[in-house]
Amino acid sequence: MKKARMILDRDYAIGRIDRRLYGSFIEHLGRAVYGGIYEPDHPTADRHGFRRDVIDLVRRLDVPVVRYPGGNFVSGFNWEDSIGPRDRRPKRLDLAWATTETNEVGLHEFVDWARDANSEVMYAVNLGTRGPDAARNIVEYSNHRGGTQWSDLRIKNGAKEPFNIKLWCLGNEMDGPWQMGQKTAYEYGRVASEAGKMMKLVDSGIELVACGSSSLTMPTFGAWEYEVLDQCYDQVDYVSIHRYYGNPTGDTPGFLARNMDMDEFIKTVVAICDAVGGKKHSRKKLMLSFDEWNVWYHSNAQDREIVKRDKWGVALPLLEDIYNFEDALLVGSMLITMLRNADRVKIACMAQLVNVIAPIMTRNGGGAWAQTIYWPLMHASRYGRGTALRPVVQSPAYDCSDYTDVQLLDATATLGDDGSLTIFAVNRDMKEDIKLTCDLRAFGELRPAEHILLHHDDVKAVNTEDQPDTVSPQKGGHGKVDGGHFTIRVPALSWNVIRLEKAE
Ligand code: AHR
Repeated sequence: MKKARMILDRDYAIGRIDRRLYGSFIEHLGRAVYGGIYEPDHPTADRHGFRRDVIDLVRRLDVPVVRYPGGNFVSGFNWEDSIGPRDRRPKRLDLAWATTETNEVGLHEFVDWARDANSEVMYAVNLGTRGPDAARNIVEYSNHRGGTQWSDLRIKNGAKEPFNIKLWCLGNEMDGPWQMGQKTAYEYGRVASEAGKMMKLVDSGIELVACGSSSLTMPTFGAWEYEVLDQCYDQVDYVSIHRYYGNPTGDTPGFLARNMDMDEFIKTVVAICDAVGGKKHSRKKLMLSFDEWNVWYHSNAQDREIVKRDKWGVALPLLEDIYNFEDALLVGSMLITMLRNADRVKIACMAQLVNVIAPIMTRNGGGAWAQTIYWPLMHASRYGRGTALRPVVQSPAYDCSDYTDVQLLDATATLGDDGSLTIFAVNRDMKEDIKLTCDLRAFGELRPAEHILLHHDDVKAVNTEDQPDTVSPQKGGHGKVDGGHFTIRVPALSWNVIRLEKAE
Protein backbone atom coordinates (compact mmCIF):
# COMPACT_ATOMS: atom_id res chain seq x y z
CA MET A 1 0.00 0.00 0.00
CA LYS A 2 1.25 3.51 -0.80
CA LYS A 3 1.69 5.98 2.04
CA ALA A 4 0.91 9.69 2.46
CA ARG A 5 1.38 12.12 5.36
CA MET A 6 -0.51 15.21 6.35
CA ILE A 7 0.39 17.74 9.03
CA LEU A 8 -2.32 20.02 10.35
CA ASP A 9 -2.18 22.77 12.91
CA ARG A 10 -5.00 25.01 14.11
CA ASP A 11 -2.66 28.00 13.72
CA TYR A 12 -2.00 27.25 10.04
CA ALA A 13 -5.24 28.72 8.83
CA ILE A 14 -6.05 29.88 5.30
CA GLY A 15 -9.12 31.81 6.40
CA ARG A 16 -12.78 31.70 7.30
CA ILE A 17 -14.92 29.76 4.87
CA ASP A 18 -17.75 31.82 3.46
CA ARG A 19 -20.92 29.70 3.42
CA ARG A 20 -21.60 30.99 -0.10
CA LEU A 21 -18.74 28.80 -1.35
CA TYR A 22 -21.36 26.08 -1.77
CA GLY A 23 -23.75 27.97 -4.01
CA SER A 24 -25.34 26.95 -7.26
CA PHE A 25 -26.96 28.44 -10.32
CA ILE A 26 -30.32 28.32 -12.09
CA GLU A 27 -30.54 29.82 -15.55
CA HIS A 28 -33.60 30.08 -17.77
CA LEU A 29 -32.06 27.41 -19.95
CA GLY A 30 -33.21 23.97 -20.97
CA ARG A 31 -35.24 22.22 -18.28
CA ALA A 32 -33.62 23.98 -15.31
CA VAL A 33 -36.75 25.98 -14.52
CA TYR A 34 -39.56 24.41 -16.59
CA GLY A 35 -39.54 20.67 -15.87
CA GLY A 36 -36.83 21.18 -13.26
CA ILE A 37 -37.80 23.27 -10.27
CA TYR A 38 -41.23 24.09 -11.73
CA GLU A 39 -43.77 21.68 -13.17
CA PRO A 40 -47.33 22.56 -12.14
CA ASP A 41 -48.79 19.25 -13.38
CA HIS A 42 -46.30 17.12 -11.52
CA PRO A 43 -47.73 14.89 -8.74
CA THR A 44 -45.42 16.52 -6.16
CA ALA A 45 -46.09 20.12 -7.29
CA ASP A 46 -47.10 22.56 -4.55
CA ARG A 47 -49.75 25.23 -5.05
CA HIS A 48 -47.19 27.46 -6.76
CA GLY A 49 -46.27 24.75 -9.27
CA PHE A 50 -42.87 23.93 -7.73
CA ARG A 51 -41.82 20.31 -7.48
CA ARG A 52 -41.48 19.24 -3.84
CA ASP A 53 -39.27 16.28 -4.75
CA VAL A 54 -36.76 18.70 -6.29
CA ILE A 55 -36.89 21.16 -3.43
CA ASP A 56 -36.24 18.30 -1.00
CA LEU A 57 -33.09 17.37 -2.91
CA VAL A 58 -31.99 21.00 -3.02
CA ARG A 59 -32.52 21.40 0.72
CA ARG A 60 -30.53 18.25 1.44
CA LEU A 61 -27.74 19.64 -0.71
CA ASP A 62 -27.68 22.74 1.50
CA VAL A 63 -27.24 25.46 -1.14
CA PRO A 64 -26.77 28.84 0.58
CA VAL A 65 -26.97 30.97 -2.57
CA VAL A 66 -28.40 30.51 -6.08
CA ARG A 67 -27.32 32.65 -9.02
CA TYR A 68 -30.25 33.60 -11.32
CA PRO A 69 -31.57 34.08 -14.09
CA GLY A 70 -28.41 33.58 -16.23
CA GLY A 71 -25.88 32.99 -17.68
CA ASN A 72 -25.92 33.84 -21.34
CA PHE A 73 -29.70 34.16 -21.12
CA VAL A 74 -29.51 37.29 -18.99
CA SER A 75 -27.73 39.34 -21.66
CA GLY A 76 -30.93 39.60 -23.70
CA PHE A 77 -33.44 39.53 -20.84
CA ASN A 78 -35.87 42.28 -19.86
CA TRP A 79 -36.47 41.81 -16.15
CA GLU A 80 -39.79 43.66 -16.46
CA ASP A 81 -41.09 40.75 -18.61
CA SER A 82 -40.91 38.52 -15.55
CA ILE A 83 -43.24 40.45 -13.20
CA GLY A 84 -46.98 41.10 -13.00
CA PRO A 85 -49.89 38.85 -13.98
CA ARG A 86 -48.58 35.73 -15.66
CA ASP A 87 -51.10 35.78 -18.50
CA ARG A 88 -49.81 39.19 -19.52
CA ARG A 89 -46.13 38.31 -19.53
CA PRO A 90 -44.61 38.21 -23.02
CA LYS A 91 -43.15 35.16 -24.68
CA ARG A 92 -39.78 36.04 -26.14
CA LEU A 93 -37.09 34.51 -28.28
CA ASP A 94 -34.06 33.65 -26.22
CA LEU A 95 -31.19 34.26 -28.62
CA ALA A 96 -28.63 32.75 -26.26
CA TRP A 97 -30.02 29.22 -26.47
CA ALA A 98 -32.28 29.46 -29.55
CA THR A 99 -35.40 28.70 -27.51
CA THR A 100 -38.59 30.50 -26.45
CA GLU A 101 -38.93 31.93 -22.95
CA THR A 102 -42.49 32.00 -21.64
CA ASN A 103 -41.74 34.02 -18.48
CA GLU A 104 -44.19 31.83 -16.57
CA VAL A 105 -41.65 31.75 -13.75
CA GLY A 106 -40.30 35.19 -12.95
CA LEU A 107 -38.77 37.27 -10.21
CA HIS A 108 -41.45 36.85 -7.53
CA GLU A 109 -41.82 33.14 -8.12
CA PHE A 110 -38.08 32.58 -8.00
CA VAL A 111 -37.60 34.60 -4.82
CA ASP A 112 -40.35 32.50 -3.19
CA TRP A 113 -38.77 29.28 -4.45
CA ALA A 114 -35.32 30.26 -3.15
CA ARG A 115 -36.74 31.12 0.24
CA ASP A 116 -38.37 27.70 0.38
CA ALA A 117 -35.08 26.09 -0.64
CA ASN A 118 -33.26 27.95 2.20
CA SER A 119 -31.16 29.82 -0.35
CA GLU A 120 -30.29 33.44 -0.94
CA VAL A 121 -30.75 34.87 -4.46
CA MET A 122 -27.71 36.18 -6.37
CA TYR A 123 -29.31 38.16 -9.17
CA ALA A 124 -27.59 38.93 -12.47
CA VAL A 125 -28.56 42.12 -14.30
CA ASN A 126 -28.44 42.48 -18.07
CA LEU A 127 -25.46 44.57 -19.15
CA GLY A 128 -25.56 43.14 -22.68
CA THR A 129 -28.64 44.63 -24.36
CA ARG A 130 -29.59 46.80 -21.35
CA GLY A 131 -27.65 49.08 -19.04
CA PRO A 132 -27.42 51.05 -15.78
CA ASP A 133 -31.00 52.34 -15.91
CA ALA A 134 -32.64 48.90 -16.03
CA ALA A 135 -30.14 47.71 -13.42
CA ARG A 136 -30.94 50.42 -10.89
CA ASN A 137 -34.66 49.96 -11.48
CA ILE A 138 -34.64 46.29 -10.56
CA VAL A 139 -32.71 47.06 -7.38
CA GLU A 140 -35.37 49.64 -6.52
CA TYR A 141 -38.15 47.18 -7.37
CA SER A 142 -36.58 44.44 -5.26
CA ASN A 143 -35.11 46.24 -2.28
CA HIS A 144 -36.79 49.61 -1.73
CA ARG A 145 -39.45 49.43 0.95
CA GLY A 146 -42.15 51.42 -0.91
CA GLY A 147 -43.38 54.86 -1.96
CA THR A 148 -41.76 54.91 -5.41
CA GLN A 149 -42.94 53.70 -8.81
CA TRP A 150 -40.93 50.50 -8.85
CA SER A 151 -41.24 49.55 -5.21
CA ASP A 152 -44.99 50.23 -5.26
CA LEU A 153 -45.29 48.03 -8.33
CA ARG A 154 -43.64 45.20 -6.39
CA ILE A 155 -46.20 45.71 -3.61
CA LYS A 156 -49.02 45.77 -6.16
CA ASN A 157 -47.65 42.53 -7.58
CA GLY A 158 -48.08 40.86 -4.21
CA ALA A 159 -44.83 41.36 -2.27
CA LYS A 160 -45.30 43.89 0.52
CA GLU A 161 -41.88 43.22 2.00
CA PRO A 162 -38.76 43.99 -0.05
CA PHE A 163 -36.93 40.95 -1.45
CA ASN A 164 -33.72 42.28 0.04
CA ILE A 165 -31.47 40.74 -2.62
CA LYS A 166 -27.96 41.44 -1.39
CA LEU A 167 -25.74 40.00 -4.10
CA TRP A 168 -25.81 41.21 -7.72
CA CYS A 169 -23.82 40.17 -10.80
CA LEU A 170 -23.04 42.96 -13.26
CA GLY A 171 -23.82 41.03 -16.44
CA ASN A 172 -22.38 37.72 -17.62
CA GLU A 173 -19.25 36.73 -19.57
CA MET A 174 -19.18 40.05 -21.41
CA ASP A 175 -16.04 39.31 -23.46
CA GLY A 176 -17.60 36.25 -25.12
CA PRO A 177 -18.40 36.62 -28.85
CA TRP A 178 -21.51 34.48 -28.14
CA GLN A 179 -22.76 37.06 -25.67
CA MET A 180 -25.56 39.43 -26.68
CA GLY A 181 -24.05 42.89 -26.37
CA GLN A 182 -20.44 41.68 -26.18
CA LYS A 183 -18.11 44.46 -25.05
CA THR A 184 -14.49 45.43 -25.00
CA ALA A 185 -12.89 45.51 -21.57
CA TYR A 186 -13.02 49.30 -21.48
CA GLU A 187 -16.67 49.44 -22.57
CA TYR A 188 -17.68 46.83 -20.02
CA GLY A 189 -15.54 48.31 -17.24
CA ARG A 190 -17.20 51.70 -17.71
CA VAL A 191 -20.75 50.37 -17.85
CA ALA A 192 -20.12 48.10 -14.83
CA SER A 193 -18.78 51.07 -12.92
CA GLU A 194 -21.78 53.30 -13.72
CA ALA A 195 -24.38 50.56 -13.22
CA GLY A 196 -22.70 49.52 -9.97
CA LYS A 197 -22.57 53.11 -8.72
CA MET A 198 -26.27 53.66 -9.41
CA MET A 199 -27.30 50.31 -7.94
CA LYS A 200 -25.42 51.12 -4.73
CA LEU A 201 -26.98 54.58 -4.62
CA VAL A 202 -30.37 52.85 -4.54
CA ASP A 203 -29.25 50.35 -1.89
CA SER A 204 -25.88 50.86 -0.23
CA GLY A 205 -26.13 47.44 1.43
CA ILE A 206 -25.70 45.40 -1.74
CA GLU A 207 -22.57 43.64 -2.99
CA LEU A 208 -21.51 43.54 -6.64
CA VAL A 209 -19.71 41.03 -8.82
CA ALA A 210 -17.89 42.27 -11.94
CA CYS A 211 -17.48 39.88 -14.88
CA GLY A 212 -14.04 38.45 -15.27
CA SER A 213 -13.17 37.00 -18.65
CA SER A 214 -15.51 34.20 -19.71
CA SER A 215 -12.64 31.72 -19.72
CA LEU A 216 -8.97 31.27 -18.98
CA THR A 217 -8.56 30.20 -22.61
CA MET A 218 -10.00 33.41 -24.07
CA PRO A 219 -7.46 35.64 -25.84
CA THR A 220 -8.89 38.47 -23.72
CA PHE A 221 -8.09 36.70 -20.42
CA GLY A 222 -5.76 38.66 -18.16
CA ALA A 223 -5.82 41.96 -20.01
CA TRP A 224 -9.63 41.88 -19.63
CA GLU A 225 -9.51 41.57 -15.84
CA TYR A 226 -6.88 44.31 -15.59
CA GLU A 227 -8.71 46.84 -17.76
CA VAL A 228 -12.18 46.06 -16.36
CA LEU A 229 -10.98 46.42 -12.78
CA ASP A 230 -9.04 49.54 -13.63
CA GLN A 231 -12.42 51.05 -14.56
CA CYS A 232 -14.65 49.67 -11.79
CA TYR A 233 -12.40 48.62 -8.88
CA ASP A 234 -13.95 51.05 -6.41
CA GLN A 235 -17.54 50.06 -7.21
CA VAL A 236 -17.30 46.26 -7.03
CA ASP A 237 -16.65 43.69 -4.35
CA TYR A 238 -15.93 40.54 -6.34
CA VAL A 239 -14.70 39.52 -9.75
CA SER A 240 -16.25 36.44 -11.35
CA ILE A 241 -14.38 33.45 -12.74
CA HIS A 242 -15.86 30.56 -14.73
CA ARG A 243 -14.32 27.18 -15.54
CA TYR A 244 -15.59 23.86 -16.91
CA TYR A 245 -13.61 20.66 -17.55
CA GLY A 246 -14.22 17.60 -19.70
CA ASN A 247 -12.67 14.24 -20.47
CA PRO A 248 -13.51 13.64 -24.13
CA THR A 249 -10.46 11.41 -24.71
CA GLY A 250 -11.08 9.13 -21.72
CA ASP A 251 -7.77 10.02 -20.03
CA THR A 252 -8.80 9.55 -16.39
CA PRO A 253 -5.45 10.38 -14.68
CA GLY A 254 -5.16 13.56 -16.77
CA PHE A 255 -8.79 14.49 -16.08
CA LEU A 256 -8.42 14.01 -12.33
CA ALA A 257 -5.51 16.48 -12.33
CA ARG A 258 -7.54 19.31 -13.92
CA ASN A 259 -8.11 21.05 -10.61
CA MET A 260 -4.44 22.05 -10.73
CA ASP A 261 -5.44 24.30 -13.62
CA MET A 262 -8.24 25.65 -11.42
CA ASP A 263 -5.74 26.48 -8.70
CA GLU A 264 -3.46 28.35 -11.13
CA PHE A 265 -6.48 30.16 -12.54
CA ILE A 266 -7.58 31.39 -9.10
CA LYS A 267 -4.08 32.52 -8.19
CA THR A 268 -3.64 34.36 -11.49
CA VAL A 269 -6.90 36.30 -11.08
CA VAL A 270 -6.05 37.12 -7.46
CA ALA A 271 -2.69 38.46 -8.66
CA ILE A 272 -4.39 40.67 -11.27
CA CYS A 273 -6.88 42.00 -8.70
CA ASP A 274 -4.02 42.88 -6.37
CA ALA A 275 -2.01 44.44 -9.20
CA VAL A 276 -4.90 46.78 -9.97
CA GLY A 277 -5.38 47.48 -6.27
CA GLY A 278 -1.66 48.26 -6.01
CA LYS A 279 -1.75 50.56 -9.01
CA LYS A 280 -4.65 52.43 -7.43
CA HIS A 281 -2.95 52.63 -4.02
CA SER A 282 -6.13 51.02 -2.71
CA ARG A 283 -6.38 49.26 0.63
CA LYS A 284 -9.43 47.38 -0.58
CA LYS A 285 -8.97 43.72 -1.53
CA LEU A 286 -11.25 42.21 -4.14
CA MET A 287 -12.54 38.70 -3.57
CA LEU A 288 -13.41 36.11 -6.19
CA SER A 289 -16.83 34.77 -7.10
CA PHE A 290 -16.27 31.45 -8.85
CA ASP A 291 -19.83 31.63 -10.06
CA GLU A 292 -19.73 28.92 -12.74
CA TRP A 293 -17.75 25.73 -12.26
CA ASN A 294 -18.32 22.09 -13.08
CA VAL A 295 -17.65 19.28 -15.52
CA TRP A 296 -19.36 19.96 -18.87
CA TYR A 297 -18.87 17.99 -22.07
CA HIS A 298 -21.11 14.89 -22.11
CA SER A 299 -24.07 16.64 -23.75
CA ASN A 300 -22.27 18.82 -26.34
CA ALA A 301 -22.97 16.70 -29.44
CA GLN A 302 -26.56 15.95 -28.38
CA ASP A 303 -27.27 19.66 -27.88
CA ARG A 304 -26.28 20.50 -31.44
CA GLU A 305 -28.84 17.95 -32.68
CA ILE A 306 -31.59 19.17 -30.38
CA VAL A 307 -31.22 22.76 -31.48
CA LYS A 308 -31.08 21.74 -35.15
CA ARG A 309 -34.33 19.79 -34.72
CA ASP A 310 -36.31 22.03 -32.35
CA LYS A 311 -35.02 25.56 -32.73
CA TRP A 312 -37.13 28.04 -30.69
CA GLY A 313 -38.77 25.23 -28.70
CA VAL A 314 -39.75 25.71 -25.04
CA ALA A 315 -37.68 24.06 -22.28
CA LEU A 316 -35.66 21.82 -24.59
CA PRO A 317 -33.53 19.18 -22.83
CA LEU A 318 -30.27 21.10 -23.25
CA LEU A 319 -26.93 20.61 -21.46
CA GLU A 320 -28.21 17.43 -19.80
CA ASP A 321 -24.85 15.93 -18.90
CA ILE A 322 -25.13 12.53 -17.26
CA TYR A 323 -22.32 12.49 -14.73
CA ASN A 324 -20.20 9.46 -13.98
CA PHE A 325 -18.06 8.48 -11.03
CA GLU A 326 -14.84 10.10 -12.26
CA ASP A 327 -16.75 13.39 -12.66
CA ALA A 328 -17.63 13.20 -8.96
CA LEU A 329 -13.97 12.71 -8.11
CA LEU A 330 -12.93 15.79 -10.06
CA VAL A 331 -15.78 17.79 -8.52
CA GLY A 332 -14.44 16.70 -5.11
CA SER A 333 -10.97 17.94 -6.05
CA MET A 334 -12.42 21.21 -7.35
CA LEU A 335 -14.08 21.74 -3.96
CA ILE A 336 -10.78 20.95 -2.24
CA THR A 337 -9.12 23.57 -4.47
CA MET A 338 -11.68 26.18 -3.49
CA LEU A 339 -11.19 25.42 0.19
CA ARG A 340 -7.45 25.83 -0.29
CA ASN A 341 -8.16 29.30 -1.68
CA ALA A 342 -10.90 30.18 0.81
CA ASP A 343 -9.12 33.39 1.79
CA ARG A 344 -9.94 34.89 -1.64
CA VAL A 345 -12.73 32.73 -3.11
CA LYS A 346 -15.78 33.77 -1.12
CA ILE A 347 -18.59 32.80 -3.47
CA ALA A 348 -18.80 29.80 -5.78
CA CYS A 349 -21.73 28.43 -7.78
CA MET A 350 -21.74 24.94 -9.18
CA ALA A 351 -23.24 25.41 -12.64
CA GLN A 352 -25.98 24.51 -12.55
CA LEU A 353 -28.52 23.02 -10.10
CA VAL A 354 -31.27 21.06 -11.88
CA ASN A 355 -31.14 19.22 -15.24
CA VAL A 356 -28.73 21.66 -16.90
CA ILE A 357 -25.16 20.39 -16.15
CA ALA A 358 -26.57 19.65 -12.76
CA PRO A 359 -26.29 17.54 -9.62
CA ILE A 360 -30.08 17.00 -9.67
CA MET A 361 -31.94 15.39 -12.58
CA THR A 362 -35.65 15.06 -13.19
CA ARG A 363 -37.97 13.41 -15.66
CA ASN A 364 -41.00 15.44 -16.72
CA GLY A 365 -43.89 13.84 -14.87
CA GLY A 366 -41.48 11.37 -13.28
CA GLY A 367 -38.79 11.11 -10.63
CA ALA A 368 -35.98 13.32 -9.37
CA TRP A 369 -32.61 11.89 -8.42
CA ALA A 370 -29.07 12.80 -7.38
CA GLN A 371 -26.31 12.56 -9.96
CA THR A 372 -22.84 11.40 -8.88
CA ILE A 373 -21.60 14.99 -8.45
CA TYR A 374 -24.36 15.74 -5.95
CA TRP A 375 -22.48 13.92 -3.20
CA PRO A 376 -19.17 15.81 -2.97
CA LEU A 377 -21.02 19.13 -3.13
CA MET A 378 -23.39 18.04 -0.38
CA HIS A 379 -20.54 16.79 1.82
CA ALA A 380 -18.48 19.95 1.37
CA SER A 381 -21.49 22.15 2.07
CA ARG A 382 -22.41 20.22 5.22
CA TYR A 383 -18.98 19.69 6.70
CA GLY A 384 -16.68 22.23 5.04
CA ARG A 385 -17.65 25.07 7.36
CA GLY A 386 -15.61 27.10 9.83
CA THR A 387 -11.93 27.71 9.06
CA ALA A 388 -9.98 26.34 6.11
CA LEU A 389 -6.66 24.93 7.28
CA ARG A 390 -3.40 25.00 5.34
CA PRO A 391 -2.26 21.39 5.31
CA VAL A 392 1.22 20.12 4.57
CA VAL A 393 0.67 17.00 2.45
CA GLN A 394 3.36 14.58 1.40
CA SER A 395 2.07 12.11 -1.14
CA PRO A 396 3.42 9.92 -3.91
CA ALA A 397 2.86 11.67 -7.24
CA TYR A 398 2.38 10.96 -10.96
CA ASP A 399 2.85 12.70 -14.27
CA CYS A 400 0.02 13.14 -16.77
CA SER A 401 -0.73 14.88 -20.05
CA ASP A 402 -0.77 18.44 -18.66
CA TYR A 403 1.07 18.24 -15.35
CA THR A 404 4.03 16.65 -13.64
CA ASP A 405 4.10 15.87 -9.94
CA VAL A 406 0.37 15.49 -9.40
CA GLN A 407 -0.17 14.30 -5.82
CA LEU A 408 -2.01 10.99 -5.76
CA LEU A 409 -3.64 12.08 -2.54
CA ASP A 410 -5.41 15.40 -3.04
CA ALA A 411 -6.41 16.55 0.43
CA THR A 412 -7.30 19.48 2.64
CA ALA A 413 -8.98 20.06 6.01
CA THR A 414 -11.39 22.36 7.80
CA LEU A 415 -11.76 23.18 11.48
CA GLY A 416 -15.36 23.51 12.63
CA ASP A 417 -16.36 26.12 15.18
CA ASP A 418 -17.17 23.25 17.56
CA GLY A 419 -13.55 22.07 17.42
CA SER A 420 -14.27 19.16 15.07
CA LEU A 421 -11.90 18.50 12.21
CA THR A 422 -12.89 17.37 8.71
CA ILE A 423 -10.44 16.01 6.18
CA PHE A 424 -11.52 15.99 2.52
CA ALA A 425 -9.44 13.70 0.34
CA VAL A 426 -9.45 12.26 -3.17
CA ASN A 427 -7.23 9.28 -3.86
CA ARG A 428 -6.39 9.65 -7.57
CA ASP A 429 -4.55 6.34 -7.70
CA MET A 430 -6.34 4.06 -10.20
CA LYS A 431 -5.37 0.87 -8.36
CA GLU A 432 -3.82 1.28 -4.94
CA ASP A 433 -5.17 2.30 -1.58
CA ILE A 434 -3.15 4.89 0.35
CA LYS A 435 -2.38 4.69 4.04
CA LEU A 436 -2.76 8.27 5.28
CA THR A 437 -1.11 9.34 8.53
CA CYS A 438 -2.10 12.75 9.92
CA ASP A 439 -0.19 14.62 12.56
CA LEU A 440 -2.94 16.15 14.69
CA ARG A 441 -0.99 16.81 17.87
CA ALA A 442 -1.92 20.51 17.80
CA PHE A 443 -5.63 19.75 18.31
CA GLY A 444 -5.66 18.02 21.67
CA GLU A 445 -7.69 14.83 22.05
CA LEU A 446 -9.72 13.95 18.94
CA ARG A 447 -11.61 10.79 18.13
CA PRO A 448 -12.72 9.44 14.74
CA ALA A 449 -16.41 10.23 14.24
CA GLU A 450 -17.22 9.24 10.68
CA HIS A 451 -15.66 8.29 7.37
CA ILE A 452 -17.91 8.89 4.37
CA LEU A 453 -16.64 7.22 1.23
CA LEU A 454 -17.67 7.55 -2.41
CA HIS A 455 -16.26 4.83 -4.62
CA HIS A 456 -17.24 2.70 -7.59
CA ASP A 457 -15.09 0.14 -9.40
CA ASP A 458 -16.17 1.61 -12.74
CA VAL A 459 -15.18 5.25 -13.35
CA LYS A 460 -17.96 5.48 -15.95
CA ALA A 461 -20.74 4.35 -13.55
CA VAL A 462 -23.75 6.71 -13.45
CA ASN A 463 -26.94 7.17 -11.45
CA THR A 464 -30.29 6.91 -13.24
CA GLU A 465 -33.93 7.30 -12.29
CA ASP A 466 -34.24 3.51 -11.95
CA GLN A 467 -30.89 3.05 -10.24
CA PRO A 468 -30.29 6.28 -8.35
CA ASP A 469 -27.88 4.77 -5.81
CA THR A 470 -25.30 3.22 -8.12
CA VAL A 471 -22.77 5.84 -7.07
CA SER A 472 -23.70 6.90 -3.56
CA PRO A 473 -21.90 7.40 -0.25
CA GLN A 474 -20.96 4.43 1.90
CA LYS A 475 -19.35 4.06 5.30
CA GLY A 476 -15.55 3.94 5.15
CA GLY A 477 -13.17 2.44 7.69
CA HIS A 478 -12.87 4.36 10.95
CA GLY A 479 -9.11 4.83 11.24
CA LYS A 480 -7.39 5.18 14.59
CA VAL A 481 -5.77 7.85 16.70
CA ASP A 482 -2.57 7.07 18.53
CA GLY A 483 -0.60 9.72 20.42
CA GLY A 484 -1.91 12.60 18.29
CA HIS A 485 -1.35 10.69 15.04
CA PHE A 486 -4.37 9.56 13.06
CA THR A 487 -4.09 6.75 10.52
CA ILE A 488 -6.68 5.75 7.95
CA ARG A 489 -6.89 3.78 4.72
CA VAL A 490 -7.99 5.82 1.71
CA PRO A 491 -9.22 3.44 -1.00
CA ALA A 492 -8.03 3.68 -4.62
CA LEU A 493 -10.14 6.10 -6.69
CA SER A 494 -12.31 7.53 -3.96
CA TRP A 495 -13.74 10.72 -2.47
CA ASN A 496 -13.48 10.78 1.33
CA VAL A 497 -14.89 12.89 4.12
CA ILE A 498 -13.12 11.98 7.34
CA ARG A 499 -14.51 13.59 10.48
CA LEU A 500 -12.91 13.73 13.87
CA GLU A 501 -14.50 15.25 16.93
CA LYS A 502 -13.22 16.41 20.28
CA ALA A 503 -12.84 13.60 22.79
CA GLU A 504 -14.39 14.85 26.06
O1 AHR B 1 -23.76 27.42 -17.55
C1 AHR B 1 -23.95 27.39 -18.93
C2 AHR B 1 -23.40 28.61 -19.64
O2 AHR B 1 -22.01 28.60 -19.55
C3 AHR B 1 -23.79 29.95 -19.07
O3 AHR B 1 -24.99 30.41 -19.57
C4 AHR B 1 -22.67 30.84 -19.52
O4 AHR B 1 -22.46 31.90 -18.64
C5 AHR B 1 -21.49 29.91 -19.63
O5 AHR B 1 -20.85 30.08 -20.85
